[in-house]
Amino acid sequence: MPKFSIRPLAITQELLSWYKRFQRELPWRKTKDPYKIWISEIMLQQTQVETVKPYYGRFLKKFPTVKKLANAPLDEVLKVWEGLGYYARARHLHQAAQGILSEHQGKIPCNRAELLRLPGIGRYTVGAILSIAYGQDEPALDGNLQRVLCRLFNIDKDPKLGVTQKKLWQLARDLLPLGQAGLFNQALMDLGATICIPGEPRCLICPLMHLCEARRVGRQSLLPVKSIKRSLPHYDVAVGIVHKSGKILITRRPEKGLLWGLWEFPGGKRKIKESLKVCVKREIKEEVGIEIEVEAPLVIVRHAYSHFRVTLHAFHCRFVKGRARALGCSDWAWIDLSEIDQYAFPSANHKILAALQKAIPKSASG
Ligand code: ADE
Repeated sequence: MPKFSIRPLAITQELLSWYKRFQRELPWRKTKDPYKIWISEIMLQQTQVETVKPYYGRFLKKFPTVKKLANAPLDEVLKVWEGLGYYARARHLHQAAQGILSEHQGKIPCNRAELLRLPGIGRYTVGAILSIAYGQDEPALDGNLQRVLCRLFNIDKDPKLGVTQKKLWQLARDLLPLGQAGLFNQALMDLGATICIPGEPRCLICPLMHLCEARRVGRQSLLPVKSIKRSLPHYDVAVGIVHKSGKILITRRPEKGLLWGLWEFPGGKRKIKESLKVCVKREIKEEVGIEIEVEAPLVIVRHAYSHFRVTLHAFHCRFVKGRARALGCSDWAWIDLSEIDQYAFPSANHKILAALQKAIPKSASG
């Protein structure tokens, strides 16, 4: 592990002067409002800057203050978040806004302990809010910064390991130019996003090329070392588009589970050796207590979540009998296809929806 064989002062100076010239113009850089910085940082977790931009604008238009967010129904928050993925982020934002309103008079806390107590806020987000919005000298180490620091200091240990994490956070702290941590953290973010990119970095245009240990020994494209990846489990899920007198059944995911609060077409995981048609029938009976008949297949959709992959097999189904009840879901609704935009669906269901909208004029719904 390196001590400082290169001077932190040189790194910070080179980086800050590069940032002054080349920083990206991003909507959340036009403000120091801690609320807006918080929203941007949550959206930017696991999501590309270009994807976040339109969501950031729409979200703040709809929820311009902590109070507006806290008082909105969760459904509205999820609807604005629809398509951005990792929906726990939206639920946590909503829950945290309620906590900030009730316990901090609507003001985003400006200290680490209080921020960490809010749902969805971890060490990185604390560092980003405190440094960017409140001008405090705090590091904010995310995946991009880890890559930059592993290369800059030629760290050849898995950055996910606890000991490496500890060292990286310490380095990120030691490098901070006092009074300019917000700028410095964002400069490192831009360097990671535009120059010190994954794979083959663009060293020839890097302001830190002459200070980079990995570049000096020719190991820049080998770092950071990759963690051993386990292959993701896969599930087959059978889904029913249940038609009844021109309406379609949608259900709301159960509380606390994955994607809770979002709407979907009812269905579930196929059991070992179970046929897909038997699976849809069983799942719909368990979820909403109605009898259906499975008809033509509609579409097969593949989707990868962070911890598993699914193949969704969607079937048109005909309602037979029974009264819908929320047995294995938190809510249900018979809706007209034209009303579907009012509900927030996870991305995988959007692919089913697109197939349905194409097919519905041809299929007999009713
Ligand atoms: N990624 C995470 N936070 C960011 C920020 N403030 N600017 C650019 N990219 C980011």
